[in-house]
Amino acid sequence: MAFNEQSGLEFWQGQPMTPCQTIELAGVNVVVKRDDKNHEFVQGNKLRKLKYNLIEAQRQGVETLITFGGAYSNHLLATAFAAQACGLSSLGVVRGHELEKNQAIWSETLFQCKQLGMQLVFVSRSDYRLKTKSQVFQGLVKNTPNSYVLPEGGSNQLALQGVAEIVAELQQQVEETPTHLICPVGTGGTLAGLVYGVAQKKWMCKVIGVAVLKGLHSIKDDINQWLTTLDTEKNYDVLDGFHAGGYAKNTKELSRFCVTFEQHHQIQLDKIYNSKSFFALAQLIKSRQITAKDRPLIIHTGGIQGGVNK
Ligand SMILES: Cc1ncc(COP(=O)(O)O)c(C=O)c1O
Repeated sequence: MAFNEQSGLEFWQGQPMTPCQTIELAGVNVVVKRDDKNHEFVQGNKLRKLKYNLIEAQRQGVETLITFGGAYSNHLLATAFAAQACGLSSLGVVRGHELEKNQAIWSETLFQCKQLGMQLVFVSRSDYRLKTKSQVFQGLVKNTPNSYVLPEGGSNQLALQGVAEIVAELQQQVEETPTHLICPVGTGGTLAGLVYGVAQKKWMCKVIGVAVLKGLHSIKDDINQWLTTLDTEKNYDVLDGFHAGGYAKNTKELSRFCVTFEQHHQIQLDKIYNSKSFFALAQLIKSRQITAKDRPLIIHTGGIQGGVNK
């Protein structure tokens, strides 16, 4: 199947600017960039990260997108959607051999991927850890001619370009440059893209990432590696005290925060990423590390289709 430029890339390139909303959080005005509003289920950073990868895939004339993910991966679903929208095939390498013959333990995300036509290949955790180096993966690529491999979470150099467009949009939307940009961190690609965008616009602004996984020791190495072409100062930090026990883990305090937050602001927070970044921002304000003199701006990166924190 050939790459269908009409339906695919037009969708990606023709996305309108996502809105900004100002809320009061613990007495401080906070601008929320509502990237959760850009699509029903390919939300926020996923749409941003895929854009230039799809343009590159088109340039290469590929037929199949291949990527990786866990059973709840927003990126897997986004790739399945992107492939269908662009008239491509898709293949998802999924962590967990046990899922292969037992649909009873499948997540909603996996069913949605399947519905969108993604071929799912389940691999053991040890093979999954090896990623592109595993024999299973190399066999799949060999047997799938004209394929384009997207890394886990969709984070690569081209993804950064797409995320940096958030900053370009913000420049048109906010009157004054924010002092802090806050986002959740999984693989770190979104944060790196924001740092890139901030440097391009020469903003005096600190980018604060909130790690959603435990033990992200090498994350700064990954981020710095994507940013090697930047010759300006990289003004960012990754906070590792708000993961609530690890990926997809929750605490009563975090749930309570999300419920109250949604009641006050009518903004839903997904349970894996944004619940933790918004909670972290509230804590930074409470501990006066961010005050009413600052202009914090938080990116809502979507993920709502994967479930909200209640
Ligand atoms: C909704 C959402 N927000 C944030 C992230 C984290 O982004 P990154 O992997 O670029 O750090 C992800 C997953 O990758 C996500 O699905």
